Amino acid sequence: MSCELGSVQEAKMDHQTQLRLTRELLHLIDCNETSQAESFSLNPVTRYTCVAHLAREQAVLFRGVPLMVGLSCELPGSGDYLTDDRCGVPIAVVRLPDGGLSAFINVCRHRGARVLDDRGTLTGSMVCPYHGWVYDLAGNLRTVAPAENFQGLTCAERSLTRLAVCEQHGLIWVSSVPDRVIEPLAPMGALTQEIANYHFEKFALYRRVQLDKAFNWKMVIETFLENWHFPFVHRRTVLPIFLPSVSLFEAFGRHGRLIMPRRSILQMRDEPIEQWSLLKHSLIIYWLFPNTLLLWQGDHLETWQVFPDQERVNRCTAQVSIYTPQAATSVREREYWDKNMALLLETVDGEDFQISERIQGGLRSGAQEHLTFGRHEPALQHFHRQIWLALEEAPAPAD
Ligand code: FES
Ligand SMILES: [Fe+2]
Repeated sequence: MSCELGSVQEAKMDHQTQLRLTRELLHLIDCNETSQAESFSLNPVTRYTCVAHLAREQAVLFRGVPLMVGLSCELPGSGDYLTDDRCGVPIAVVRLPDGGLSAFINVCRHRGARVLDDRGTLTGSMVCPYHGWVYDLAGNLRTVAPAENFQGLTCAERSLTRLAVCEQHGLIWVSSVPDRVIEPLAPMGALTQEIANYHFEKFALYRRVQLDKAFNWKMVIETFLENWHFPFVHRRTVLPIFLPSVSLFEAFGRHGRLIMPRRSILQMRDEPIEQWSLLKHSLIIYWLFPNTLLLWQGDHLETWQVFPDQERVNRCTAQVSIYTPQAATSVREREYWDKNMALLLETVDGEDFQISERIQGGLRSGAQEHLTFGRHEPALQHFHRQIWLALEEAPAPAD
């Protein structure tokens, strides 16, 4: 949550879109209304408690869909790499000398050791730490050791197992299933151009925090998809910044965009229309199916990603990152971004997630079979509908 606005506005949603959305928001505020779904909806409690349901989500959502692994700024130069195990498949992504990326399962083709750890920079090749097999940055096996004991083995057949990777407008996506291609519109769909306009490829990672929580993964996404809890939960933290109970939602295929106005949006009425900046006066939340949130926070990007525990339906790992338009270099800048991170953790981890843990604790109580989403929670309804449709449409698991 941005606690104070910076002066530089590098990123842009196109101005006509900003004007249209601002007018719609001001109209909702004037009428004391908010975006609405057609009716209330029910969500079975078992979707948060059933281990078999989690297994289905793991297979369809977290292995079957390309997932974001980070922003381009995290792999700026040749040989820079990251590893990511969060979806249950150990993934490694490496920046190649020609500026492209390679991605593969981070498992050595000799006897299965992990080839890379954490993040870092390679100087031209990867050496497996167990017996020293050498791979190039694209994952091709170059040297086996000791060579005389592997006569007849074809290196070309022992490359690291390739994964499809795609870098779009500063975001990096990987499919964790070998031989699966990533269609160009798969990661962001109809939001692709709008997100491109922010130029996230120029942003810098400021700080990242990982939170292991005792509730189902979907509650992390739910936290961000309505704001009418602000007067109850965030009275001290972000209620002074945001207008509660009004938001503008639009579905984009599987994805969605929810805009929560800051109180300062009311000042825009006194400004010439040419100067209207929705980006400055609202929180713009993009939910990218299934587990990623991009939050435009006035002057920076905040991302959230959530992954379920591999076996426990009531555990998840959420990761929040702050990316800034330029790398923070001065003490003053760092203090400013630290203050933003502190406020967001106080708000989300200290307030929202406390409630989420208690909700999870009550789900098995027998109190009810369904949770209920109101008409004024269209983003929540869309999120759950899209998740459910994906699970329904995916082929049944082989026996
Ligand atoms: S497991 Fe990698 S070289 Fe042996
Ligand atoms: Fe909240």
